[in-house]
Amino acid sequence: MNETELILAIESSCDETSVAVIENGETILSNIVASQIKSHKRFGGVVPEVASRHHVEQITICIEEALSEAGVEASDLRAVAVTYGPGLVGALLIGLSAAKAFAWANGLPLLPINHMAGHIYAARLVEPLVFPLMALLVSGGHTELVYMKEDGSFEIIGETRDDAAGEAYDKVGRVLGLSYPSGKEIDELAHQGEDTYDFPRAMLKEDNFDFSFSGLKSAFINLTHNAEQRGEVLDHQNLAASFQASVVEVLVSKTIRACKTYPVKQLIVAGGVAANKGLREQMAAAIEKELPDVKLIVPPLRLCGDNAAMIGAAAHVELQKHHFAGMSLNANPSLAFQHI
Ligand code: KG4
Ligand code: ZN
Repeated sequence: MNETELILAIESSCDETSVAVIENGETILSNIVASQIKSHKRFGGVVPEVASRHHVEQITICIEEALSEAGVEASDLRAVAVTYGPGLVGALLIGLSAAKAFAWANGLPLLPINHMAGHIYAARLVEPLVFPLMALLVSGGHTELVYMKEDGSFEIIGETRDDAAGEAYDKVGRVLGLSYPSGKEIDELAHQGEDTYDFPRAMLKEDNFDFSFSGLKSAFINLTHNAEQRGEVLDHQNLAASFQASVVEVLVSKTIRACKTYPVKQLIVAGGVAANKGLREQMAAAIEKELPDVKLIVPPLRLCGDNAAMIGAAAHVELQKHHFAGMSLNANPSLAFQHI
């Protein structure tokens, strides 16, 4: 059998249509990402119906581009991998239908992939994973600490009780009049300001690995509304810096505590919010100071946001385990990690 394992991976769970060709779960031959952000900006968030329509328009173009950029024919492929959840149901169904059609037409097996597992496996495109490891997953819809004993085994040891970290960034950004998604802009503002507003650090002292960001969001909204009513102008750079200081301190402290509690060799920080400069800097500093034997892996920025390369990396593990799906595979918008 051919040594090279090529997987065509498809991702369409939210507002990015993406198709990649991945070699042996570790090398990116192509990773096409068609972003719809411009179409959603004026609505201040992702509109599901608009997202689905864009996916329909983009998906075949992305598949063709991914194959041609990789210099690969359908007959060279070993399998087709696709995100089947969590995400927007209509958006997921477009990628799923395209993957099924491509797999069926070319006689290839279909690999169903969990989007959040994909975010973790983005790290595999940087360097080999060494188990056991901890992953901090921070995105627009999720904030969780995942303990992995081995490939394909996911145990959620802590998660947000309310808003996800990215969701808090986007809501606070709306209050500041920033466009969606506002995580990147708040991050930039934060680096020009100082932590002067003393926002709460939720659940920091509690003896668990859970998070909460809705109290911080409310504190932020109350502060800005009260100032508005008094006709007071607040410093947006300091507001952003104070908000980010709270989010980052809680994420870093709880993650470090989790890594001290579990016998981990690596820490992966993944998901859209892993692009945050403050989080990357402070996590690196904390690991170096408190857990120098734990290797921190934070994927490069282009692999933190939604992309199909990460789906292809996760699919490599599923292929080894022969976790194939039939043509009746359905989208699962609230797909969770299976506890193994
Ligand atoms: O993983 P992702 O691309 O999509 C989901 O699966 O949710 O994450 C998107 C989230 C958005 O909430 C966005 O504001 C946030 O990631 N984000 C950031 C940064 N870049 C993107 N949050 C904080 N700092 C950033 N630099
Ligand atoms: Zn995502």
